[in-house]
Amino acid sequence: MRNYCEVTGLPECSEVGHRKRTGSRVHLAKRGSIFVARRVSPSTKRRSFCERPRSVGCLVAPGIACKPTEAQSIAMTYLSMLQRPRRNRKSSVVRGFARETHLTPDAFIYPLFVHDGRGVEPIGSMPGAARHDETSLLAEVEGALSEGVRAFVLFPAVEEGLKTKHGEESYNPEGLVQRRIRAIKRRFPEATIVTDVALDPYNIDGHDGIVTEDGRILNDDTVAVLVKQAVSQADAGADIIAPSDMMDGRVAAIRRGLDEAGYTEVSILSYTAKYASKYYGPFRDALDSAPKSGDKKTYQMDPANAVEALREAELDEAEGADMLMVKPAGPYLDIISALASASTLPIAAYQVSGEYAMIKAAGARGWVEERSVVLESLLGIRRAGAKAILTYFARDAARYLREGG
Ligand code: PBG
Repeated sequence: MRNYCEVTGLPECSEVGHRKRTGSRVHLAKRGSIFVARRVSPSTKRRSFCERPRSVGCLVAPGIACKPTEAQSIAMTYLSMLQRPRRNRKSSVVRGFARETHLTPDAFIYPLFVHDGRGVEPIGSMPGAARHDETSLLAEVEGALSEGVRAFVLFPAVEEGLKTKHGEESYNPEGLVQRRIRAIKRRFPEATIVTDVALDPYNIDGHDGIVTEDGRILNDDTVAVLVKQAVSQADAGADIIAPSDMMDGRVAAIRRGLDEAGYTEVSILSYTAKYASKYYGPFRDALDSAPKSGDKKTYQMDPANAVEALREAELDEAEGADMLMVKPAGPYLDIISALASASTLPIAAYQVSGEYAMIKAAGARGWVEERSVVLESLLGIRRAGAKAILTYFARDAARYLREGG
């Protein structure tokens, strides 16, 4: 005897084994449709509904009729889909096949603050980050290396007494950065060292360039100092020079300076699209390097501009840059993406101090789940097209990734 669905009139599936295995799913002639089963009571011959959904796995007795749920009959009437994108999200294995972006610690560059005082000095607006003396710097580098972070960028907190109008301390062979590069290279020759080229930590005015009496930033005079700074960092053992000053023509000048000094293998990671951003606030606390007067809008880019970033990228490429950087990262993902499609050079992005501070602050209050938001923020930067990411989360994020996210 056959049973028929009292709604559709379709016959019950004869594949009893299948029916049993899948519980109350009754496979009708119209294959692929899923129905909620109705149980026919053999004794009374009266029908009672089995309302249990398929996933509950009720064992279906013989004599089943079926009735689609309301949602199912709507789907049968209105939806006829060959494409169901959700199939590619159905399990972690399948999601793994479909995944387009992978976050790995070899993308990370870890910025570290150094000072000439003793010990570790916490930075109020950057919980978890600190100014390191040589011992704690080496410990931090060692810890990060063991997590798979292989590149570091050093930022010096320079003593007030060493700051001048022209930032001569920036190219002192015995300067803080130069000594710390040598210390890291001695202990960990495998560590890749990136250095920041700009005058703000060394300059009495807190600007990236030399400031005139009437408050202008001198481009060409500044570039002359930056070249000396870059060569002195290369002398100390830097692998990658990263000019963050935004003076015009500095990439070409630094490239020539490095080449003349014999450092043809030292790379230039140019801060190509560095915006005049308020997200740098905590960094300036860390180094006590905020401009004493004025702002950085005559050299850093206007946050409203995207096309101009392409112009900067063209110039930096022509001037011999090896990699192009966008900074900040999170609020400028469109710029990362634009440079990644416009240039054949690898793109780096800097998740800056303000981005770090915001995640830390919300995380500490339990307003966001810090660990996941950290990884999501970095994944977003990768997805936009950054090959390398400068992030204060580098060491933590590498550990989160090792622990499975
Ligand atoms: C200095 C420099 C700055 C940052 C990196 N290099 C500050 C600035 O331009 O004012 C900011 C990094 C951060 O906020 O994390 N030229």
